[in-house]
Amino acid sequence: MSTSAPDADGVRSSVRARYAEIAQRGGCCGSAKDGGPDPLGQASASAALGYSAAEMAAVPVGSNLGLGCGNPQALAELRVGEVVLDLGSGGGFDCFLAAAQVGASGQVIGVDMTAEMVSTARANAARGGYANVEFRLGEIEHLPVADNAVDVILSNCVINLSPDKPQAYREAFRVLRPGGRLAVSDVVAVKPLSAAVTSNLDAHCGCVAGAALVSDLEQMLREAGFDGINICLREESREVIKTWFPGSGVEDFVRSASIQAHKEPFAAAGTAGVDARTEELIAIGAALAVHCQPCLTYHVASARGLGLAEADLRTAMEIGQRVEQGAQAAMGRFAAGIAAGPSAAAPSCCGGAARHGKTCCS
Ligand SMILES: C[S@@+](CC[C@H](N)C(=O)[O-])C[C@H]1O[C@@H](n2cnc3c(N)ncnc32)[C@H](O)[C@@H]1O
Repeated sequence: MSTSAPDADGVRSSVRARYAEIAQRGGCCGSAKDGGPDPLGQASASAALGYSAAEMAAVPVGSNLGLGCGNPQALAELRVGEVVLDLGSGGGFDCFLAAAQVGASGQVIGVDMTAEMVSTARANAARGGYANVEFRLGEIEHLPVADNAVDVILSNCVINLSPDKPQAYREAFRVLRPGGRLAVSDVVAVKPLSAAVTSNLDAHCGCVAGAALVSDLEQMLREAGFDGINICLREESREVIKTWFPGSGVEDFVRSASIQAHKEPFAAAGTAGVDARTEELIAIGAALAVHCQPCLTYHVASARGLGLAEADLRTAMEIGQRVEQGAQAAMGRFAAGIAAGPSAAAPSCCGGAARHGKTCCS
């Protein structure tokens, strides 16, 4: 048996073939025709990973394929109005849960490189009537997503499958908005894996052989630009992992981990002098001044996501309110001036004194 590591294309083709087959079969461990309350074992596997019965019941049948190794959308603490990207979205399970949390003003994008998975997820979305979820075909190392476009990145048991994890994390960093966050569940190695395991394509597709050591993972995240890196091993995952390759002892080498990190609010702001936090404060004031409730909710959530102080949010709202009230009062004076008749002095704009012989509207 060869113990040389398989090349990147070989890994990608095998992974794609494996998950295409799972998508067509409808789950990880059997046939949907097996019957019974949990014919494919997905519900029990998901319950062990921290999903509630209510969460499992809330998504379209067929979206939970029992392929996760954690519950990243719970980790992310999603807020109304946020834009969420799920790397390796499979049948769409986490996307649908995220969609309920971000609401109609939010958006969820799932990316997966396996066409059969994307088709399954789109069919699930159509059946569930999700207007705020879309699925895109693509590789997580080359995301079909614009720069600085998303607030939160989720991923469940996918990045270990990537033959180029540093590139996947660089892409994640690129598409996150400044202040955006990463909430990932993935399999990581707690001890170096043997060459026999890392060369085994079956173990790659089964989310074991590609697991990165925690110290390597930390370095990849740091080099990609992330801050606030926190990798938390979930010791209880041993029991679930033991069932993946029974008798192999793989549970002594890998664990599921909760991986969190963020993109600093000021990193890559890139605009001439206006950073993301200032933009949000301006938007809060403007939303109040124009009476746009969904805009206000969205921008307050974004500002909190960027770590702005509550006192600053209150100041922005007070300024917005003052502008709105000032404009109303000025309009009243303006109307009163007009009502006084054609001989009355022309009211100055905004009730203020005309400067340099001009009103502010001239
Ligand atoms: C273990 S499954 C997890 C699916 C889903 N996140 C879940 O929890 O049900 C891995 C998924 O990631 C996709 N995938 C694997 N490597 C990928 C890559 N490099 N780029 C995009 N998708 C990938 C596979 O097609 C598959 O749907």
